[in-house]
Amino acid sequence: MTEETKEEVRVWCDGCYDMVHFGHANSLRQAKALGDYLVVGVHTDAEITKHKGPPVFTQEERYKMVRGIKWVDEVVEGAPYVTTLETLDKHGCAFCVHGDDITMTADGVDTYHLVKSCGRYKEVERTAGVSTTDLVGRMLLMTRQHFRQGDSEYSVDREPSKSMGQDRTARSPWTGCSQFLPTTQKIIQFSDGKVPQPGDKIVYVAGAFDLFHVGHLDFLKEAKKEGDYLIVGLHTDPAVNRYKGSNYPIMNLHERVLSVLACKYVNEVVIGAPYEVTKELMEHFNVSVVCHGQTPIMPCENGSDPYAEPKLQNKFKPLNSGSDMTTERIVERIILHRLEFEDRNLKKEKKELAAYEAFVKSKSENIEMAG
Ligand code: CTP
Ligand code: C5P
Repeated sequence: MTEETKEEVRVWCDGCYDMVHFGHANSLRQAKALGDYLVVGVHTDAEITKHKGPPVFTQEERYKMVRGIKWVDEVVEGAPYVTTLETLDKHGCAFCVHGDDITMTADGVDTYHLVKSCGRYKEVERTAGVSTTDLVGRMLLMTRQHFRQGDSEYSVDREPSKSMGQDRTARSPWTGCSQFLPTTQKIIQFSDGKVPQPGDKIVYVAGAFDLFHVGHLDFLKEAKKEGDYLIVGLHTDPAVNRYKGSNYPIMNLHERVLSVLACKYVNEVVIGAPYEVTKELMEHFNVSVVCHGQTPIMPCENGSDPYAEPKLQNKFKPLNSGSDMTTERIVERIILHRLEFEDRNLKKEKKELAAYEAFVKSKSENIEMAG
């Protein structure tokens, strides 16, 4: 077969994609690299509730978030929890890709057993140190431990050895994993590597973009329409903490960088942007327009307007994302449903632990037999 007639390889992924984070995005990035076209099946709220417990985000929100990830070509709404061969065939996908953790139905059945038994299953490396469970834990406990990764200078509470009332010594190796270790390699993998072309209109936006959500996605979509090349300035952890207080940001700077880079509208990210959008910054990036959504603009430490310079230059444009989602609303949702989430996460880890122990046991039995 010549290069030109080579058939397109369509790849299938599926999941809950609840509170989409860069671990999900990284699995989709790896899956896309195994073929040419990526189809992602997302489960309904009813399916997730049945097998895992209630999701934090609605199916409409989750569908939209997955569509916003730059490696995703197509989203299939309401994909079945157990991946079937019919599903793969219906969407013309050669195989299914999943992270190297285990997913089970409410009855403890491996959701990929059908595709595995037919050799139409491939595994990619799960991103250690990030999970919905862990993020929910940060919100419920209001710890500041995650700041340590974002800024080593920043003081933190040396809390807690426990997560969500669970014993940390009995954690599943997948969901209960340790901290995420940011590397330049990961940033390179997430970045599209494109530089602005001559004549490109450059749009600049800045913010916390904490727990990257549908409001951010809608806002960035609007911002991208204002030009050709979108740069997102991410405020440092101490800067966000100054204007948000409590234990914000929930995700540290490195984590927020990856979440924003995974968004299909974003071309470049400034890792730790100055809070004030200065003349120097605008010149440096050749910025044509600076945008901000409908959320309040918090003043600089000295009380001044962080957008004073772009306003002076007549380059400031307020946008309406049409979404009222905020990071605080997510935290409120979590706190409101605290008990359900605690129960859900406890169950998930218990199931994973049992599966992991069985896996270790069968491995050691195999070794004994071989010996
Ligand atoms: N995934 C990953 N790395 C993570 C978390 C998830 O590679 N840190 C992958 C999973 O392996 C799966 C896909 O993302 O292939 C979708 O996962 P999903 O069904 O949404 O849920 P979980 O694996 O339960 O994610 P979480 O633990 O964050 O709830
Ligand atoms: O609050 P945060 O700093 O994360 O917001 C980043 C940008 O996204 C801001 O310009 C904010 O106004 C915008 N946004 C929006 N609609 C939302 C949430 C945020 O336009 N629902």
